[in-house]
Amino acid sequence: MHNFEGQTVLLTGGAGYIGSHTALVLAQWGAKVVVVDNFCNSAPESIRRVEEITQKTIPCLELDVRDQAGLEEVMTEHKPVAVIHFAGLKAVGESVEKPQLYFEVNFGSTSALCGAMQNCGVKNLIFSSSATVYGDLNQPPLTETMSTPMDRVANPYGLSKLVIEQMLKWQQRANSDWSVTLLRYFNPVGAHPSGKIGEDPQGDPNNLMPRVTRVALGIIDTLHVFGTDYPETDDGSPSRDYIHVMDLAEGHAAALAEMLKDGRPPALKTYNLGSGKATTVLELLAAFEEATGQKVKREIHPRREGDLPVSFADPSLANKELNWKTQRSIVEMCRDAWNWQQQNPNGYRA
Ligand code: NAD
Ligand code: WQD
Repeated sequence: MHNFEGQTVLLTGGAGYIGSHTALVLAQWGAKVVVVDNFCNSAPESIRRVEEITQKTIPCLELDVRDQAGLEEVMTEHKPVAVIHFAGLKAVGESVEKPQLYFEVNFGSTSALCGAMQNCGVKNLIFSSSATVYGDLNQPPLTETMSTPMDRVANPYGLSKLVIEQMLKWQQRANSDWSVTLLRYFNPVGAHPSGKIGEDPQGDPNNLMPRVTRVALGIIDTLHVFGTDYPETDDGSPSRDYIHVMDLAEGHAAALAEMLKDGRPPALKTYNLGSGKATTVLELLAAFEEATGQKVKREIHPRREGDLPVSFADPSLANKELNWKTQRSIVEMCRDAWNWQQQNPNGYRA
């Protein structure tokens, strides 16, 4: 636990899945949290519930992060010591259909944010990057020093994360009094244990866990398991490094605490936020059934195009430098995801 008493932190995209859990942790640990979001993939209700849980007031302002003048107004009023930049589009399939939209929103928002930070003298930035930047070249465990060539990234979404990482490296180099931390998340799942906040994908979800909870609830008939013929895993289904969203939120708090530490020289840092453990699709289904007592109806289907057989982090740099590691098990991830889904079958919509 860290103490952020008296420090204001601006969260772009803070009403979303990871942002709302991070808002909760930061508020509980004393920070004054301010959220800007255009609600294209979220609702202000998430932050209202964070306020309910934490008993703290969190201004939640409707703003498109591409609006630099609007951002400057918010920064002038609230004087944040740091920004955590969650805002962006994240649907892999949609990015293949509409690459220009992903470049416009993901680059455009980051560029406007950097301009606003420059003009307002805000010098600390944490960026939501992704394990997707490792592409298909590298063998897990994936470490931050591995090379990340652009032509090995599987889709425009991943490319947008990789290019933004490079944009921010140059930005930090040109503004040597800035601290920039790039956090590469692995596969975030789960929800706050209260079940009041969680993942609320608009439309048909693509990711595994929201599909599993929807099958258990009967909203989706059958889970399609995309491949059980991968020779790289024991049961033949692909494996991933699933991370409880509360562990991930605490990882942001740890990165922020390190960044704001007295006497720490400004720097650009990159950290994997993952558990270091790989869980296959079939293992996750077994854990879900154990945690919830629900049967998950499934069918084996061919591999999904672009899927890696195995992906997991080497989280040792974050373990050491941020004094952070994941605490919560796969069974807890399943239990909390199910708790949220059961209490909120329509997400934040009544
Ligand atoms: P999310 O969609 O729930 O949250 C993103 C938020 O940004 C939403 O509230 C959305 O309304 C907002 N937003 C989008 N464009 C905006 C804009 N132009 N202006 C203002 N707000 C805007 O997604 P999430 O899962 O919470 O992801 C947060 C960040 O983490 C994203 O940048 C995502 O790419 C990254 N990430 C997510 C995952 C994952 O699997 N969830 C993995 C790795 C990285
Ligand atoms: C996990 C596993 C599927 C759905 C994606 C993005 C990545 C990052 C996290 C943002 C895979 C299998 C899935 C289903 C299945 N996002 N699966 N049936 O593909 O590891 O990563 O989200 O940065 O960029 O690519 O996550 O949850 O989609 O899939 O069998 O209905 O579940 O094959 O092995 P993925 P996922």
